[in-house]
Amino acid sequence: MQQNYLQEIQRWFGEYVDEFRGQDGQLPRLLQLKLEHSVRVAEDARGMARDLGWTDADANTAEAIGILHDVGRFSQYVEFKTLSDRHSINHAARSWEVVDQEIVLSGVGTTDGQRIKDAILYHNQIEIPPGVSKDSLPFVRLIRDADKLDIFMVFHELVSTNHLQQHPELLFGVPADGPPNPELVDLIRTQRNAPFSMIKSLTDFKLIQMSWVYDIHYPPAFDRIHERDILGKLESLLPPSPEAREVAGLARGHVKSRTARR
Ligand SMILES: [Fe+2]
Repeated sequence: MQQNYLQEIQRWFGEYVDEFRGQDGQLPRLLQLKLEHSVRVAEDARGMARDLGWTDADANTAEAIGILHDVGRFSQYVEFKTLSDRHSINHAARSWEVVDQEIVLSGVGTTDGQRIKDAILYHNQIEIPPGVSKDSLPFVRLIRDADKLDIFMVFHELVSTNHLQQHPELLFGVPADGPPNPELVDLIRTQRNAPFSMIKSLTDFKLIQMSWVYDIHYPPAFDRIHERDILGKLESLLPPSPEAREVAGLARGHVKSRTARR
């Protein structure tokens, strides 16, 4: 994608977001957080594309995907008063619909248009479904990595400031205290990331965040996990249970093996 198309998408996004501002010019707090998340994800997507040696055109496409991937959050929140997909709609499908209905992608070309739409649609699925085209796959992988990099930090911030504990609706209605769910620990031991449906307490939420390292694809994403001490931050939130420590140790080993390989 040429630079001028990226600029056009950024301009469109800014105008689209403005529609959700109140009379005071402010977004609802959770939407402001989503806006900031989208900007950081776009930056990381571009940075990783650059580290991977992608062309400028592909880095532009990666950045556009970063800015657009959560665009459905805005109407989701206004319509359902929640960002919980479980209690409303799949926000990735909503993002896909917004991008599909608006004229934002007109002119970017069929291949880039499909890459953007595929990356948006599959960014939040537990696994990338088989059958994603060869053209789209690198972009689907990149947005999933970039998105996780930021969610790790946001999650750490929300827990370490007690925000999540004070807002039970963000916690899927599970208690803030509790031992690790043994079935969840068993699944993570097989080096798989686990679905949110296995969360029985905030501890499980923390373990699932750690398990996401098994779904990270690109070396530059592992580098960023290392540089930002993401696992150290997540580990500091864990209770002193042997299972939790074991999961943390395995996750550390995995990141180390992927960063050292380069
Ligand atoms: Fe998302």
